[in-house]
Amino acid sequence: MRLDQVQRNYDRAARHYDTWTQLVFGRLLDIERLREDAIELLGDIDGKVVLDVGCGTGRNFPLLVPRVGPKGQVIGVDYSRGMLDEARALVVQRGWENVELMHDDAAELATVPAAVDAVISVWCMGIVHDLDAALGRALDVLRPGGRIVIMDFDRARPDRGCLRWLYPVYSRLLRWAGIDSAEDLDDDRLRAKWKSGRGVLQRRLGSLEEERYLSGGGVILSGTAPRLEKRP
Ligand SMILES: C[S@@+](CC[C@H](N)C(=O)[O-])C[C@H]1O[C@@H](n2cnc3c(N)ncnc32)[C@H](O)[C@@H]1O
Repeated sequence: MRLDQVQRNYDRAARHYDTWTQLVFGRLLDIERLREDAIELLGDIDGKVVLDVGCGTGRNFPLLVPRVGPKGQVIGVDYSRGMLDEARALVVQRGWENVELMHDDAAELATVPAAVDAVISVWCMGIVHDLDAALGRALDVLRPGGRIVIMDFDRARPDRGCLRWLYPVYSRLLRWAGIDSAEDLDDDRLRAKWKSGRGVLQRRLGSLEEERYLSGGGVILSGTAPRLEKRP
């Protein structure tokens, strides 16, 4: 999705994003609970700095903040100022002092300090205008030995099950709501994008773990940045 579309679509959706996400991803698809699984894959993040790429309204924060503890920090990055405003309201309401929010493009991460201890991204990377660049930048700012976890949809429709047949309705609904663009919902395009993105992760991480969810439509990718070799 082009940056101007991210700004326009997500700024417009921001106020109702949590209600719709809870209804569709929480109640209907029952995949909201997978956030917890994804965050567990970061390992021990107590006292660590965790970067949340495409943090949106901050739905990962209630799980991240207690895990990083008072000595740790959560950095949320998003390109939609509307989504960041919602995230900021949540941070103020909960009184969290160790959450920093930044307006930035995931493919640039110009404002993010290197090196963070862990990177998480939930349901964002697949719509970033340049997935390879975004994954590359996430790995640039991740310190050696740090964990990265990406939960996303790498196919536009599930491989099997009744959801495969309900998909055209879901896809039309998303376009009608003005959130996702037609090209983001194109299955061939999304598969090709992720094939290349996986290549970036594999080359830089060495090995990549993968779990599928939603009848094959979604994937949780995780890995550890290689440690620097000690010189003799
Ligand atoms: C479907 S929402 C997911 C939000 C949040 N991660 C969650 O789990 O609820 C996708 C988010 O990605 C953000 N986004 C899309 N493209 C981006 C980009 N190039 N740079 C930064 N954020 C981007 C959008 O603004 C939006 O907040």
